[in-house]
Amino acid sequence: MIMDTFAFIIHPINPKKDVSRKFPRLGRLLTERQINFFSTFFPPLYISEISGVQSAATGKQIQGWFLACPYTPQRMLELPVGRVYRKIIQTGRMAEDLGAQILGLGAFTSVVGDAGITIAEALEVPVTTGDALTISMAVEAVEQAAAVMEIDMQTATAAVVGATGAIGRVCAELLAEQVAELCLIGRRQSALESLQERFQNQGARARITTSTSMESVAGVDLILSVTSNVQAIIEPEYLRSGCVICDVARPRDVSTRVSAARPDVLVIEGGMVEIPGPVDFHFDFGFPPGKAYACMAETMALALEGRFEDYTLGKEISRQRVDEISEIAHRHGFRLSGFRSFERAVTEAQIAGIKAKVQRRFQVPVSSLSQGRFT
Ligand SMILES: NC(=O)c1ccc[n+]([C@@H]2O[C@H](COP(=O)([O-])OP(=O)(O)OC[C@H]3O[C@@H](n4cnc5c(N)ncnc54)[C@H](OP(=O)(O)O)[C@@H]3O)[C@@H](O)[C@H]2O)c1
Repeated sequence: MIMDTFAFIIHPINPKKDVSRKFPRLGRLLTERQINFFSTFFPPLYISEISGVQSAATGKQIQGWFLACPYTPQRMLELPVGRVYRKIIQTGRMAEDLGAQILGLGAFTSVVGDAGITIAEALEVPVTTGDALTISMAVEAVEQAAAVMEIDMQTATAAVVGATGAIGRVCAELLAEQVAELCLIGRRQSALESLQERFQNQGARARITTSTSMESVAGVDLILSVTSNVQAIIEPEYLRSGCVICDVARPRDVSTRVSAARPDVLVIEGGMVEIPGPVDFHFDFGFPPGKAYACMAETMALALEGRFEDYTLGKEISRQRVDEISEIAHRHGFRLSGFRSFERAVTEAQIAGIKAKVQRRFQVPVSSLSQGRFT
């Protein structure tokens, strides 16, 4: 049977752990520094075939492939952007040789430079970053997490960290229509103020504030974090008891210290999606069977829809694109799939435990939290 096809580029995010997934010995022997260094000289890599993706609406099946661009996020930020493009394009040519009809750019391969535009121009195969479905699923995850933590979106305060970024900006726009107060957090005050003005002119429901300090998340009920920082930037000291943090960034924005030090907050990974059909990735990228990142799901949804065209590209993503891919993905059976936190499923019992701790031990004034005291 001839099937429509797609390919998706992944790359090591956690250098030792991710290299071990394909090369256990190398991952064990090399240090993180060595992996960062050698990744410059590694060629692109065929990882696996993806089978069993099937539309719940039409029954159509597609075939895909995972390919790896060897650079780590740190390497992609350090090297000249032209050199990074060349390696991603080389990986894209591998997708063309396999016969892929659409190519998705995973994690930092969609962050570098102009977010896929130059890469798409250099390749024959249509390209998408997956950012539009990532936005839609991230906001849906915040809504679901707010519901389970009994936070009323209409009266809630929220913050988007990385609000001036491609994903952050549209997430902020969507949240500004739902919550009472929204703080836009980023590195550049002027860019944040432009965004604030834009949302206010659009008649945002929320009162909008801006900040360049991470301490501004203290006192916030809902945090959506999506920066391109390589190190974690959200620490336990900043957080309000009972808050929800949806971490969309890869590598993560939320410090692993949060999971140990703050049993009274719910941290979830943004956008784990259940894939329709008996999917087999033939590769363990750290998710449970049948689940994938929203950006991977966007590529698959476009292949099921037969939309073999450049789709989400560049840093200015439109609301229409987000709404359209959300409709396409839902129609074919892609669904937001439970909560995951620091690579583990979050159970109902754990959520009950978090809520109990908010009520009993960790209900402390916001003023003391922002100074790092919560005992
Ligand atoms: N989970 C998924 O399925 C998925 C899919 C795609 C992408 N991602 C991840 O999403 C993240 C963002 O992607 P993007 O395409 O939106 O990237 P982007 O357009 O480059 O935006 C990143 C934003 O983060 C901001 N930033 C960087 N360091 C910061 C810091 N220390 N404090 C505050 N803000 C900071 C940047 O600020 P400036 O404006 O000042 O540069 C920029 O606005 C990446 O980690 C990427 O890997 C996840």
